[in-house]
Amino acid sequence: MTLSPVERAKQEAAKLAVIENVHDEMIVGIGSGSTIVYAVKEIAAMVEKNDWNIVCIPTSYQAEALIINNHLPLGSLDQHPHVDVTIDGVDEITLDLTAIKGGGGCLVQEKIVADNSIKLVIIGDWKKVSMTLGESWKKGVPIEIIAKAQIPLTQRLKEMGGKVKLREGKAKIGPLITDNGNFILDVNFGKIIDPKKLSTKLKSMIGVVDSGLFVNMVDKAYIGQEDGTVKILS
Ligand code: 5RP
Repeated sequence: MTLSPVERAKQEAAKLAVIENVHDEMIVGIGSGSTIVYAVKEIAAMVEKNDWNIVCIPTSYQAEALIINNHLPLGSLDQHPHVDVTIDGVDEITLDLTAIKGGGGCLVQEKIVADNSIKLVIIGDWKKVSMTLGESWKKGVPIEIIAKAQIPLTQRLKEMGGKVKLREGKAKIGPLITDNGNFILDVNFGKIIDPKKLSTKLKSMIGVVDSGLFVNMVDKAYIGQEDGTVKILS
């Protein structure tokens, strides 16, 4: 099957990221989304070919199923609190490796696994790169919140200048419930000039579990280009 330029870019980025960053005897964090599917397939091929001994730590129910379905050894942070490398997708990333994640609603577990990883490697296509966060990802910063705090937090986020939208389920009426049993508010702040300040502010708000702003967390990004090449940001 011929892949579209975007899918090919995602696949090439995922392949190169795996080849360069995943090795035998590693504990590997597995991100969530559609790009990570290509990475998991590549990891599975390398494990089978080289008879590697690795353990994969999921960042969501989706990642857990991917690991199991590709016959990779499944582990948890309880068993392996020190992860060697995590590979994950992204919604938007700037050249200084600041990112927005959580388009798939898995931001909190993604951040927990990333925070316990020696290295966070991001994979994506050229459309994900921008000069300023908020430029290309228009759906807003995903913020996972405790359901009971929805109304007061919505009000406060609006007072901060955000356009707030409660994320709804797709085949379910009403709010989307995350893998952790929480709600997500997607908050559009326009262009985010100071992501670190915003991230700190959001994290300090009572009822916020965490936001999809990844500041000073990403070590390397593999960005597939329209022509099939891969650019590396580090
Ligand atoms: C899920 C995420 C994903 O990594 C992000 O949304 C990118 O997804 P995709 O690879 O499908 O573009 O953060 O919470």
